[in-house]
Amino acid sequence: TQTEAQVAAIIDEFKALEGPLLPILHGIQEEFGYVPQEALPVIAGALNLSNAEVHGVVTFYHDYRSKPAGRHVLKLCQAEACQSMGSDAVAAQVKTALGIGFHETAGDGSVTLEPVYCLGLCACAPAAMLDGEVIGRVDADAVAEIVREVRT
Ligand code: FES
Repeated sequence: TQTEAQVAAIIDEFKALEGPLLPILHGIQEEFGYVPQEALPVIAGALNLSNAEVHGVVTFYHDYRSKPAGRHVLKLCQAEACQSMGSDAVAAQVKTALGIGFHETAGDGSVTLEPVYCLGLCACAPAAMLDGEVIGRVDADAVAEIVREVRT
């Protein structure tokens, strides 16, 4: 298939590296926005790994998605500085408002919610990132604003 051919080309690009699996997965996610299921046997074959080993790595590193993301990607910082400024409460509000948990995509495909561990914005904790843009001091108003934005 075309996907397999694209995957094979990405593998070729990184295969010579030491520890090529993570760069390959990264390259595939860049290309497709996620790591398609049918990429796994191609990678496993090329690197002499079992499908289960490749699958294990994809699921271990939460940065890799096994399904396409929603139109928006919202990341909420869950690291220590943000925790101490109430990121748990923010996460709970967002989850309730969107009706999804971390690593999930809303049923209408509007948004994928992911935790992140430090956005380098600790001074403005709790922090979030919406489609690559950082948002500091996330409070209830900011949550409402974010929810509005991803729903449009
Ligand atoms: Fe959240 Fe650093 S801990 S931005």
